[in-house]
Amino acid sequence: MRRSSPSSSTVAQPAPEQLARVHHLLLEWYAREQRPLPWRATSDPYAILVSEIMLQQTQVERVIPKYHEFLSRFPTVADLAAAPTAAVISTWVPLGYNQRAVRLQAIARQVVSDYQGRIPDSLEELLKLKGIGRYTAGAIACFAYRRQVATVDTNIRRVLHRLFIGLEHPEPRLSDAETLALAEQVLPPGRAYEWNQALMDLGAMICTSASPQCERCPVCESCAAYRELSAQSLFPSGTVLRTLRKVAEKKSGYQTQPFTQSDRYFRGRIVALLRTLPPEQRLSLAELGPRIKPSYTEADLPWLQRLVSRLARDGLVDYQEEEGVRLP
Ligand code: ADE
Repeated sequence: MRRSSPSSSTVAQPAPEQLARVHHLLLEWYAREQRPLPWRATSDPYAILVSEIMLQQTQVERVIPKYHEFLSRFPTVADLAAAPTAAVISTWVPLGYNQRAVRLQAIARQVVSDYQGRIPDSLEELLKLKGIGRYTAGAIACFAYRRQVATVDTNIRRVLHRLFIGLEHPEPRLSDAETLALAEQVLPPGRAYEWNQALMDLGAMICTSASPQCERCPVCESCAAYRELSAQSLFPSGTVLRTLRKVAEKKSGYQTQPFTQSDRYFRGRIVALLRTLPPEQRLSLAELGPRIKPSYTEADLPWLQRLVSRLARDGLVDYQEEEGVRLP
């Protein structure tokens, strides 16, 4: 790895021969081992948009059946734009993080109103769609339109960091902008599609966060993190990285909270409960609280108000302070 000057927009320059070797090994591995995912069997930008929004907070295995169901219910961007929001949300509900459904429909409506129903193909235009960030714009441009662009999600960030920079614990050594610059710099000419998908597969199947299986990795010989671990004479099994991760979590004060105590859990409970009520029926917060949280007391009211206000802001409930809450 050669360092470039700090004023340059790139942070590091992998040696060309190392890069060519990594390209060859990883693309060959991808050709052999890729996961047969349904959104890889299409170039329909709408289907790819749907998959990318679903994959933002949900595991691949849970997304696959919902992806098929959603597309058969709303086969085109125009169908989604024209549908009642409640129908979109109810198709989405088992995936959770339901505001993604509202955001996806808002994107579809903007595509219909501003782009005659055609999802744009350039990063610049994609980024004009409200709710599409750099990652999703890159994924659509690359996976649907085969644009030679980089895109960085959690898996790609981790793999690139380990491969070209080194261990990401206790601190990542690259900012978001630097990671994107690195991703652009190492893109193999003409092979952006396979490369980006391969990085995702490597991150999901081998170079995982807590238990990387370096002994099965096709690019282990070129990996900076593997070299660091070997130099420390630490066997690169998951144990080492798990330990490093724990140290990092302690340092940052981050502690995992059980899902059943999380706001996401209670948001889901509220929407699920409201769906069991006759249409138009409202519940006051005093009625709602104990029904979603058995240990609810009056002291929880400000928390519940915040939760419901955020659900209302996301378009998932209708909340009037005087009258209570119901589905929109
Ligand atoms: N996560 C986000 N996008 C993905 C894709 N295209 N394939 C697999 N996992 C993903």
